[in-house]
Parts: sequence; C-alpha cells; structure tokens
Amino acid sequence: MNPARSATALSLAAGSSRIPLFDLQRQRVRLDADIKARIDAVLAHGQFVLGPEVDLVEKRLAAFAGAGHAIGVSSGRDALMIALMAMGVKAGDAVFVPAFTFAATAGAVASIGASPVFVDVDAETFNMDPADLERAIEETMAAGRLTPRAVMPVDLYGLPADYPAIAKVAAAHGLQVLADSAQSFGGWIGDARVGALAPITATSFYPTKPLGCYGDGGAILTESDELADAVRMIRSHGRQGTGDAAVVLGLTGRLDTLQGAVLLAKLDVFTEELRRRKEIAATYSAGLNSVVTIPRIPEGYESAFALYTIRVADRDGVRARLEEKGIGTGLFYRFALHQHPAFKDFDGRSLPVSEMLADEVLSLPIHPDLRDDEVERVIAAVIEAVSA
Ligand SMILES: Cc1ncc(COP(=O)(O)O)c(C=O)c1O
Repeated sequence: MNPARSATALSLAAGSSRIPLFDLQRQRVRLDADIKARIDAVLAHGQFVLGPEVDLVEKRLAAFAGAGHAIGVSSGRDALMIALMAMGVKAGDAVFVPAFTFAATAGAVASIGASPVFVDVDAETFNMDPADLERAIEETMAAGRLTPRAVMPVDLYGLPADYPAIAKVAAAHGLQVLADSAQSFGGWIGDARVGALAPITATSFYPTKPLGCYGDGGAILTESDELADAVRMIRSHGRQGTGDAAVVLGLTGRLDTLQGAVLLAKLDVFTEELRRRKEIAATYSAGLNSVVTIPRIPEGYESAFALYTIRVADRDGVRARLEEKGIGTGLFYRFALHQHPAFKDFDGRSLPVSEMLADEVLSLPIHPDLRDDEVERVIAAVIEAVSA
C-alpha cells in the first residue's frame, strides 16, 4: 500500500481525520453564499480595477482600525514597498527590521535600494527588542556607511510590537516608523488597533492571514493626508487621480476589485473570528503551559493570533511525531533573516535570540473554524509528542 494511503487508513481507524495547520475551506463553505453574490456583482458591473468594492472596503478598514486612511494595495510586500517609497526612503538609507520575520520584511527594503539592518528580538514575545534597536542604530551611526532613516517593527504571529518603546527610540534618533502588520490586522494595544499604532502601517490579506482574501492583497493605513496621497499615486503608476502624467515613480500596486468583494464578506464576520482565535489560543495556553514555552502576550496587548507558536527544544522531533498523529504544523521561521542567502550582504550583527528561535519555534493549527474537540486533540498530541 502506498505510505500516504496507509497513514490515512491508520488515522481513520483511530477515529480521527488529519488536522491541518490552516483550513480555508471550512470558512469558505460558511460564507459561500455571500462571497459568491459579491463576486457576481463585480462580474456584472465590470469595474475590475479600483471598483466600488475597493472604495467601500477601504472605508470599512479605516473605520475598523481607527485610522484616517486605508488604501488597498496588491499585497503585503507591495504595501511595505509603497509605504517606504511614500516615506522617501532611498538608497543609502538604513531601515531597522527584526531579524526574526518573514523574508518579505527585509526584501521590501532591499527592493527599493535601501539597506535592512537586522535587530534581535525578544525571546518571549518574538518581537523587536527596543534595547537592541538602540544598539543597532548606534552601531550604524558609528560605521558611517548608511543614514539611519526608519524602523520597521513586525507584529509577529499577530501580536503588536512594543510600539511605545520603539517610538521613543525612533524619536530620539529622528527615525520614521512603518509598522509591518502583515500578520496582525485586528490586534490591539490598549484602546488602539493595529493600523493606528504607528504613523504608517502595512498589512497583508494573503489567504491565511486573519483577514485573508482569495489571492494576493494588502493595505496601507495612516493618519497622514500627505502620506495617503503619495501612497495613492504610487500604487497607480505614480499618477494623481485619473491624470495622465506620472507625478512620481509608481507601480501597478492596487487591490483588485474582486479581492475587495471577498474582503467585504469576511469583514462582516471578522470580529467574531478574532474572538474565536483568541479563545483557541487561551485553550492552547492553558493546556500546554507546563509542557512547552507558550507565547507571552503582554498586559494590555491583544494578538490577532494569525499563528499560535510554541517553543520546544526538540522541535523537529516533536514536529515529526505530531505529523504521525495527523496534526499539521508550520515552521515560521526556520531561518532568521541574516541566514537567508538573499540577505548575506546585510549580515554583520550578533543575533542570538533570532537564531535560537529559528531552531525552536513550532506553529500549531489555528483558524476560526477549528472545533473544540480538535483543539483538545492537538493539545493531547503535543503533550505526548513532547514526552516521547
Ligand atoms: C511579516 C510579514 N511581512 C510581509 C509579508 C508579505 O505579505 P504578502 O504575502 O501579502 O506579500 C508577510 C506575509 O506573507 C509577513 O508575514
């Protein structure tokens, strides 16, 4: 018998089907009628580029986040690039990014000709360490090769970065702050939502994100009219409104109308889905606290729980044993940024926490349609896998 089929037969024999890391189909079935009706409406009106759904979803995103403007763009990575361009970041500038994040964070910086400088992260929250940010800025100034220009904290796994502390360091050195909130739309600090935690914020609607569309999409949120105007021009070939002249260098970076339609359907249930993600995370934390290192959510912070990520010493062994039990997991991330071949030219700092996390992190299944019995099965399987 082929091994895949025999594994399926075994898990069915045990009375349980596989639990994948993500399951987008359950949500699609739940929202099927609404999503199809909204897509049909786009097909009927035919305004596929910057149609009314984009306008409406931008208004709803801005209202949800409490930001003055939300501008729909083509992806999270493009959101970062467009925001950096709107901020005037350029070749010769240093942009400080956490070393433990998705490659797109530093890729966006390098793509516009600026240089990412890697900053270590906190081992408990997984987010940028403000003390190491201070050191990185001082080292960069002392080296004298690059001009410190901006800080780009990442809200890893959905938890907002320490914006209050980072804003202080940034202000002391005259740096701009751009939030890479690709994973955290829906998160909070105190009374302020992601989108209003930094002067400018980029987010992603990649399908597995807490608010995901059915393809690539993203948004930029800001309070600043000036930055919003620049972003609108850059996402549309650098043109102002429908004018023919390219006022600034731009790209084809708009959110598709069809993706806007999908997002409108998903926004209707987003608050409830965030609540369910939080509930699942709390159940995991209660069940796993004494077995593995669970994520720490600081007082006053709310994570959007794009991912629920534990730390465990024998990570690869635990992962293999979970797979045998039919539990899908993910490695976000197996490499710190400076360990990617693409970023070897930007290495040079000591980043021990990021390197340790790359060896220890393991993300467990989390999505709003995960059932309670499945959450319990994951917890039991992790306990067994860790003690094997
Ligand atoms: C931290 C981070 N930054 C940027 C991105 C890029 O977003 P996208 O995939 O929409 O381009 C992602 C996600 O995929 C991400 O996780």
